[in-house]
Amino acid sequence: MVLALLLSLSSLAVGAAIDKRVAVPAGYVALSSYPAPHGGWVPEWSESYRKAAGVVANLTLAEKTNLTAGTGIFMGRCVGNTGSALRAGIPQLCLQDGPLGVRNTDHSTAFPAGITIGATFDKDLMRRRGEAIGEEFRGKGVNVYLGPSVGPIGRKPRGGRNWEGFGSDPVLQAYGAALTVEGVQSKGVIATIKHWIANEQEMYRMYSIVQEGYSSNLDDRTLHELYAWPFAEGIRSGVGAAMIAYNAVNGSACSQNSYLINTLLKDELGFQGFVMSDWLAQISGVPSALAGLDMSMPGDIHTIPLVTGQSYWMYEYTRAVLNGSIPVDRLDDSVTRILAAWYQMGQDQNYPEPNFSTNTQDTEGDLYPGAWPESPKGVVNEFIDVQGDHAVVAKEVARDAITLLKNVNSTLPLSLDTTLKVFGTDAEKNPDGINSCADQGCNKGTLGMGWGSGSARYPYLDSPIDGLKSRGATYSFYNSDSFPSNSNPSLDDVALVFVTADSGENYLTVENDHGDRDSSKLNLWHNGDKLVKDVAAKYANVVVIVHTVGPVLLEQWIDLPSIKAVLFAHLPGQEAGDSLMQVLYGDVSPSGHLPYTVPKSEEGYPNSVSLVGFQLGQPQDTYTEGLYIDYRHFNKEGITPRYAFGHGLSYTTFSFSNATITPVTGLTSTPPARPAKGPTPSYSTEIPAASEAYWPDNFDKVWRYLYSWLDKSDADNSAAIGKSTKVYPYPPGYSNKQTPGVAAGGAQGGNPALFDVAYDISVTVKNTGSTAGKAVAQLYVQYPSGISFDTPIIQLRDFEKTKELAAGESEVLQLRVTRKDLSVWDVVSQNWIVPDVRGDYGIWIGGASDALTLKCSTSEGTCESGQASPV
Ligand code: NOJ
Repeated sequence: MVLALLLSLSSLAVGAAIDKRVAVPAGYVALSSYPAPHGGWVPEWSESYRKAAGVVANLTLAEKTNLTAGTGIFMGRCVGNTGSALRAGIPQLCLQDGPLGVRNTDHSTAFPAGITIGATFDKDLMRRRGEAIGEEFRGKGVNVYLGPSVGPIGRKPRGGRNWEGFGSDPVLQAYGAALTVEGVQSKGVIATIKHWIANEQEMYRMYSIVQEGYSSNLDDRTLHELYAWPFAEGIRSGVGAAMIAYNAVNGSACSQNSYLINTLLKDELGFQGFVMSDWLAQISGVPSALAGLDMSMPGDIHTIPLVTGQSYWMYEYTRAVLNGSIPVDRLDDSVTRILAAWYQMGQDQNYPEPNFSTNTQDTEGDLYPGAWPESPKGVVNEFIDVQGDHAVVAKEVARDAITLLKNVNSTLPLSLDTTLKVFGTDAEKNPDGINSCADQGCNKGTLGMGWGSGSARYPYLDSPIDGLKSRGATYSFYNSDSFPSNSNPSLDDVALVFVTADSGENYLTVENDHGDRDSSKLNLWHNGDKLVKDVAAKYANVVVIVHTVGPVLLEQWIDLPSIKAVLFAHLPGQEAGDSLMQVLYGDVSPSGHLPYTVPKSEEGYPNSVSLVGFQLGQPQDTYTEGLYIDYRHFNKEGITPRYAFGHGLSYTTFSFSNATITPVTGLTSTPPARPAKGPTPSYSTEIPAASEAYWPDNFDKVWRYLYSWLDKSDADNSAAIGKSTKVYPYPPGYSNKQTPGVAAGGAQGGNPALFDVAYDISVTVKNTGSTAGKAVAQLYVQYPSGISFDTPIIQLRDFEKTKELAAGESEVLQLRVTRKDLSVWDVVSQNWIVPDVRGDYGIWIGGASDALTLKCSTSEGTCESGQASPV
């Protein structure tokens, strides 16, 4: 009895952690923000909420808490497996990585990584890649796709997981996110936008019993204008789930940062889906629920309790509702959000069950490997082939991402009769096997993706050497990263040198890089610089092909006279070979553009974007550079990079001309008032009966499995506390009363008026060269001079890619800038404002951020070619 009472009180004790903070530098604040807004207030989701609320009304307390958490790590086929409510027809949900394909399975496509699709600057391809990914997740019976990743954005060039996202610019990330969400969800799969937020470094990301995860300290304007921007666009596309980050923001852990989840995500950005924790990122029970977390993944508590299987939620959540710590409408809202997302994607209709296991490749095995040796056994892998014809879009992405950085004397394209000498182990598959390293935790052979949860197994890997073979090329391959003595250089040979730079997730260390490139820095791996230099010393025509997760330093050799051409093939996934051949041999012109800046030296970046090392207590990562990351910084400081953001050559040339600018929606300094929130389901705030939490009779438990029921005495005691006068120690100002919503909100993504088109811009792109090719028109905004806000010189706001244009052919591209594109986030009024309504915004268009010669002026309403590029 005493023990039961103590257990009942344990949820109350957690209350001490509700405002758990560690001091951060002055000026960085994590506001308290309660209550969690109920979902369902936008018309696009109202029908799904109606259905979901109907189900929730008839669920017991234990059924509800069972839907809000995973059943434990390795306790099911997928990387995350929720509990079910089978009585009401709600199955367990399968949550599975990762952004570039179904992780840890077979007969599925290893798509090019996020950074690769980013480099295509091709919206149509972004969407089609998303559709193909969606088909595969559905085919494997995955309910929730754990992608796209837009946080990290690439603030830190050495950050380990930048390659999972689309590039170091919020608008490029935003299109990548939105179109991936649309593509995936069009197939009925719930997409997850992650990691919310400021998750820019891998090392020291997690809270543990000895140290807090690092705190990303950033100001409100930077948060809005850079880091939240891609999330806003993913939400505008109706994303069904969001995953919080491991780290803290401004001292408060993202898993229970009430401002970030309640105010920013669910209110201002109008997110209608559910918020899950990253895996084991949760650090408390009650505070995380009150702060707006809706789903605990994979359900357990990290470190020591992981051994026996304990949860902050499940049975604890049940107890916390009974004893009055968590208002039951908070639980109801979470469950409704989860079920609404399920209905919204149509998963109540003929949705397949999982048919693979993330834990093993065997046909039969433990149903709950985490319960070993007590797990029941059964069939866990059905080896369903979900590839369809997705190799086609995968190859198109890999090909159209290839970014030609340098091409002297038209060395490329090659002709088939050229004799090639090929150097570097990256040209051929890992001799130990293409999937020999779990989660691709090694860099051996062709680098098609980084490592960690963002990886997938290759069904096959078409390597560059495979590509050369299929072409019938004349080549000799030296499968080594050291220059061989026996390659017999001849003057007419062309040398192809393959080099790499890898990174990944922190739980794996590869060649002394702990996820982030802490040891290799921005250098090529495997002494790549030396290999290139050695080849360049012996061969007159050298082509360097780089498979890389992000920026690398090229300075040791880029200007050597024999380095004739350099290509970034990014991370092509399974289609590394023929995609490259199509470019090398000129079947197509390269049309990729850099999704980040390639610097001349790491010194070029602000100090504040270096990796944060070990610090006593919580590591502090303070974003003193504010808006000035990547090209925004280089431009501000007048540092000429080696290759600018957006750079990418073709075998042909293009002109941008005959542009027009047409005002569409008149601007006002603040946007028109937001629409009011629509109705949300109404929930009772009565504490449910304790009997709703009792274990079913004769229940056969699986060891380590997380359940939501309580022993009768435990439930009864908790309910007694709930009926008593005891009050949970909520923070000052806490309220459970729903609020009308902030001014900047109003729809998914924010106030819908933010997305009003302010100007339509059209531009004629002409192929002025002699071979076919595709061009990208990049549109950057330059704010009027004299405004009272400091703004980066130029910022990408839109882009479009042409179809393949024959020599001499033209295409008119349509671009646009929205009200938000011309606004700044005003921290005082907490709204987006147009800083100078009649001011002259420069709308710059060109083929790279440093090649902008066409300028439209909003005040003149005219566009002129031949202008001096603003940077
Ligand atoms: C941790 C990673 O940060 C996240 O991206 C992933 O989805 C989960 N693990 C599940 O594997």
